[in-house]
Amino acid sequence: MEAEAIIGALMTPEGRGEPYPLYAAARELGAIRKVKDWPMHLCTGYDEINAILRDNAFGKMDFDMLPAEWRGLLLPDGAMESISRSMLLMNPPGHRRVRSLVSSAFTQRRVAGLEPAIERMTDALLDELAALGAGGEPVDFMENFAFRMPVSVICEMLGVPEADRYRFRPLAHDLTFVLELTDSFDDFGPADAATLELRAYFTELAARRREQPQDDLVSAMVQANDAHDGRLSDAELLGNLLLLLVAGFETTTNLLGNGLYLGFRHPEVLGRVRKGEIPVAAYVEEVLRYDSPVQLTSRFALTEDAHVGGHPVARGEQVMLLIGAAHRDPKRFANPDVFDPTRPDNVPLSFGAGIHYCLGQGLARLEGRVAFEKLLARFPEIEQAAEPERRDRLVLRGYETLPVRTGAP
Ligand code: HEM
Repeated sequence: MEAEAIIGALMTPEGRGEPYPLYAAARELGAIRKVKDWPMHLCTGYDEINAILRDNAFGKMDFDMLPAEWRGLLLPDGAMESISRSMLLMNPPGHRRVRSLVSSAFTQRRVAGLEPAIERMTDALLDELAALGAGGEPVDFMENFAFRMPVSVICEMLGVPEADRYRFRPLAHDLTFVLELTDSFDDFGPADAATLELRAYFTELAARRREQPQDDLVSAMVQANDAHDGRLSDAELLGNLLLLLVAGFETTTNLLGNGLYLGFRHPEVLGRVRKGEIPVAAYVEEVLRYDSPVQLTSRFALTEDAHVGGHPVARGEQVMLLIGAAHRDPKRFANPDVFDPTRPDNVPLSFGAGIHYCLGQGLARLEGRVAFEKLLARFPEIEQAAEPERRDRLVLRGYETLPVRTGAP
């Protein structure tokens, strides 16, 4: 199969549903391969992806670099423009300025200090799950736990009132469509509509926090917006608030869903985790590797001499970094298609690497550990009640529904 056919297949519902055979076909073409007649390369190698992520000769296509005719097709303040004003799609030096402003609010201390609150929220949600599943009723794990837990945590950090939290699931889902592989902007309508709604919400919340600051992230970012030196512009404030909200739960929701489903498929592994023979943290790392919540990202060559392992990438050309494929790279992982949380030196690229290394990785790992520790202890008999339904997405891989029986008394 040629590289262009593989990319085409990854853009179909079947390819998105089961991308791993397509990744294997891409690997047959080499760790990195130019796509014929397109300004694009396909990269599947773990070492190559890791190197590109850490190499500043490669960067993001930020909004101002988009051709003017493309920008003309995009809604002002819509999904693409808003996310482009966040650190996720910025290059240095702007990226450095914005990331350091946001990370000074999103500190390790703030994350670590949240552990008791995360435990409390998890216990309360597990109580609700037990009540919903009482008498053997099937319950949807995705809606009732995998979404609610991380959205509650990030909203707690941001300072979003409790009553508003559960409305964000469809909005984030629509917004993140901008991260998908697509060959036209025609499908951006729902993403733009969701973005406008979220912008209105956060504009109002930021105004309230400007009036009356609290000990939360929105207040801290509003302060960075008001600072004089190297401040966060209004567009950057909103772009980064939207990014934190969406990145703060969409991906973690999928980590929890993918992780529980893998447990159902590998009961012997789950049994060993329950008995304490396999640390929950190692289980989480293997879920991240085996079925990564983020399957791909991309970079553009920003300089004339960009290359990886002797393979040149011309300035302006894009490299699709297939993280999901890198995690099955036999040069990096022995028996890569086996789900094995005891594998040594397991360092997945699920959180990226280099200057864009996920700001929330510590929080996501903490949430994953607490969720599985408590879930497995609380529901020793939890089982799958029906086939799950996958979301029709490639980049953010997860389930729409995962029906379970909690087995709770
Ligand atoms: C960036 C994955 C959870 C906030 C990234 C990137 C990846 C990623 C792959 C880099 C993208 C690139 O280089 O193109 C994940 C996964 C998560 C997760 C798999 C959960 C399992 C979180 C959480 C938060 C968060 C909980 C925040 C509360 C961010 C931010 C960035 C980012 C702000 C942008 C960093 C930058 O561009 O400098 N994440 N993430 N993420 N993530 Fe996460």
